[in-house]
Amino acid sequence: MPTPMTVRCDRTPAWGQLQAQFAATGASFDARTALDEDASRVERLSQSAPHVFADLSKNLIDAPTEALLLQLAVQCGLAEHRDAMFTGEHINGTEDRAVMHYLLRQPPSSHTGSAALAPDSVAEKLHDVHTTLDAMLRYAEQVRADAAITDIVNIGIGGSDLGPQMAVLALDAFADVKRRIHFVSNVDGHELAGVLAKVRPENTLFLIASKTFATTETMTNATSAKAWFAAQGGTDIARHFAALTTNVAAANAFGISTTFGFWDWVGGRYSMWSAIGLPIAIAVGAEGFRGFLAGAHAMDEHFRTAPLAQNLPVRLGLLDVWYRNFHGFTSRCIAPYHSALRRMPAYFQQLEMESNGKRVDAQGQLLPFGTSPVLWGEPGTNGQHAYFQMLHQGTDVIPVEFIAVKKAMHALSGHQPKLLANALAQAQALMLGKADTGGHKNFPGNRPSTFFVLESLTPESLGAFIALYEHRVFVSGALWGINSFDQWGVELGKVLAKDIEGRLATGDVAGLDASTAALLQRLRG
Ligand code: F6P
Repeated sequence: MPTPMTVRCDRTPAWGQLQAQFAATGASFDARTALDEDASRVERLSQSAPHVFADLSKNLIDAPTEALLLQLAVQCGLAEHRDAMFTGEHINGTEDRAVMHYLLRQPPSSHTGSAALAPDSVAEKLHDVHTTLDAMLRYAEQVRADAAITDIVNIGIGGSDLGPQMAVLALDAFADVKRRIHFVSNVDGHELAGVLAKVRPENTLFLIASKTFATTETMTNATSAKAWFAAQGGTDIARHFAALTTNVAAANAFGISTTFGFWDWVGGRYSMWSAIGLPIAIAVGAEGFRGFLAGAHAMDEHFRTAPLAQNLPVRLGLLDVWYRNFHGFTSRCIAPYHSALRRMPAYFQQLEMESNGKRVDAQGQLLPFGTSPVLWGEPGTNGQHAYFQMLHQGTDVIPVEFIAVKKAMHALSGHQPKLLANALAQAQALMLGKADTGGHKNFPGNRPSTFFVLESLTPESLGAFIALYEHRVFVSGALWGINSFDQWGVELGKVLAKDIEGRLATGDVAGLDASTAALLQRLRG
């Protein structure tokens, strides 16, 4: 199938109009004045989507700019590109693959896509998805019912770690059958050794999570875990090891017979909805995991069908382009006001920066504009006592995303109002600022933020919120004309590390640059 092309954003008429708009009113736009003068601003810049409400009104954007950004989306062919994804076209051109993670959360009966869809192949894929899902959820329930298994150790990295780890933490309140779930990702042996010191072979289930079953870190940890298991007298590998992978043959060759598969049309950073989500299913049970998928599916349908002007992932993606390419903001802060979402910034880092951290377009042409911002953050209120100083008074303007959850899952009194008050107050302070002649106590204000509200943190709302981000990254990537679904930038370091590992053993520094050679010698022995 041909790779569908979007028109790159800088080659549209709207791009020039946006540049003019920025020069005329965008650069000097003041959200405070806009909120004072425009009674309809909050309503116009409020957007509900499944399980998620977003207030965009504190952002540096007005109605004419948003209208131009929507024209940009139309001229780029955003809707066509989105539909190409939803019909299974090979939009991951450099790897000649379809991008169909949304299929993992589609109910068995429904049928997404336009008339152009090849129904048989999609129906076949969906059938495979549900056969695997059912088997995986049966297995999750079996593990949950097995009182002898007290510890689950997930060994995986990147997309085979960050998503499941983030979601298991986030949904801790729904983990009705308590198991300790450990995540080992780093090749740094301290991590695995620390976990192994706490578990016993007869009570432990190791999940080896790797799309390729070839990633150095994961294979090194898996090999050490297997050796430890045997050395500790462990028996019955089939019961104590399971592999989550597209490469079932490699898992079998490694000696693991219990496997749950997925497919090459699921990118690693989009794989928590597949067998890679098994730790989540073990934590929250089959029903909880189905709820997680259902929430994401509801967001898929919103993205697929809502008009662009009322489509939350589209509006966020357009704002991202406005901030990155016109305001020139280079970073974005994620501030979840919920301690269980503490791994969310790390998860979003991979999602957005591995997807859109590209300097060439899908055709390999150098881009004349910036792409992915740096994403970073920590939960509030902790962040207020760490990095918020810079957000309020630093030299750079950094858009902030507040994620507030209305209902708490605990019964402690007084905490939730304080937490929510702080989230609101920080967004307010960033926007309003405070005039002070003294200099040090002056807050410039007009610092933009988006405020998300979830009614409560459930499998459904978490699924929807993550899918919202996935689609928003799709939107900015599509407008920039890049392939958001490959990650060639991770390859060079992997190749060099192999070479250097050999040299660390032998001390051979021939042909190395002087700095690396000197450091290698310092680290040897
Ligand atoms: O190194 C980057 C990467 O390829 C990610 O995209 C991926 O999520 C991670 O490595 C792990 O890969 P795998 O699941 O194949 O072990």
